[in-house]
Parts: sequence; structure tokens; C-alpha cells
Amino acid sequence: MPAEILLDAAALAAQVRRLGAEIERDHPDGVVLVGVLKGALLFVTDLARSISNVPVELDFIAISRFAPDSGRVKILHDLDSDIAGRDVVLVEDIVDTGLTLAYLTEQLRDRAPRTLSACALLDRPARRIVPSELRYRGVELTDEFVLGYGLHTRDLYRNLPFVAVADRGVLTAEPEAYVDQLYGPNAGEKPERPVVA
Ligand code: IMP
Ligand code: MG
Repeated sequence: MPAEILLDAAALAAQVRRLGAEIERDHPDGVVLVGVLKGALLFVTDLARSISNVPVELDFIAISRFAPDSGRVKILHDLDSDIAGRDVVLVEDIVDTGLTLAYLTEQLRDRAPRTLSACALLDRPARRIVPSELRYRGVELTDEFVLGYGLHTRDLYRNLPFVAVADRGVLTAEPEAYVDQLYGPNAGEKPERPVVA
């Protein structure tokens, strides 16, 4: 199956503008955006740039599953700043089962921010195991596996300036299967049609 472009650069920019405007409107005193590394890195920096009327502080947190079958995670990189009393928006690339978001929300809530809400570029609500409140939501997916704009498989494809849908089975067998197709001068140009190398 060839990869298909789900969100090209213009569609991503439109989502970022909309979500940035919503966050800005709700946070007249400024906001701390907490990006979840590494997947949300590209998204959160664009989001920060799109907010131009209130101050934004950027911070980052990274977590990893330490027992893959238990769904439990540990913090690999923690925030630099104290978020007590601050207005915080947790920024994710995608919310799938909701386990990551639930864990991070609990961790950050313990630090007594004034307000805490969550933003995700992509949302797959049908896969939810833990209910999670997503105040700022980009695009809803059904079951498609996506790559690009921070999203990866084995750390590949993160730098693509668009989000593409790829076949999970193909990627499991060969993580680099889509490299030739998705990189190059014409990749990412035609959102309405499959990209053919
Ligand atoms: P959750 O804890 O199941 O909600 O998982 C969320 C995390 O899984 C995301 O932050 C991503 O890092 C990863 N993930 C989920 N779906 C995809 C996908 O389609 N492509 C790449 N990574 C994904
Ligand atoms: Mg993530």
C-alpha cells in the first residue's frame, strides 16, 4: 500500500493556527506549553510561533514505557520550570489509548498548576482505554497509523513536513519501506491522491 498524505503543510498550518487561536483566547495572561518529547516537538514549536498576542513559555517532558505490557511509564526528562500557579497546556502529537495523557496529566496536576488542559494535533477516540479530556483537538482519526511532523516509527519520518498514513504491517516488516516514497522533491504535494514514487 502506498502511503497517503492525510495533512499536507497547508492543512497542518491551518490546524496550528486554529488551535493556537483557541489557546490564546483562553489564556489572556499567557501560557506554559508543555511539549511531550519527541513526537510533539515540531507541533509545539509551530503552535508557540502561532501565538503572538500573549507570552508563551515552552517546556518539555519525555516519558517512556518501562514495562511494555503494564502500560506504566517513567519520566525520562522532566520540566525545567516550576508550574505551580501557572496556566499550563500539555501538548501531544496524538492521543490513542489515552494512557500517556492520563499519566502526564496526573503528574502535572500534582504540581498544582493554576489551570491544566491538553491539546493534541491528532485524536483516535475509538482506541481510548482511559477517558481523557482533550480541550484542544486537531484532527480525528479512525484506525490509520500516521507518520511525519514529529510522528515516527523507529525514529524515522519525524522530519516530514506533512502527516502521512502508512500500513502498520508493512512498517513492522520494514521500517524504511516508505522512505523512497515520502522523501524527495515531489513528496507531500498532492494531498488528494496517493503519493507514488
Ligand atoms: P497512548 O498512550 O496510547 O495515547 O499513545 C500515545 C502515543 O503513542 C503518542 O504520543 C505517540 O507517540 C504514539 N502513537 C500512537 N499512535 C501513533 C501513530 O499512528 N503513529 C506514530 N505514533 C503513534
Ligand atoms: Mg507522543
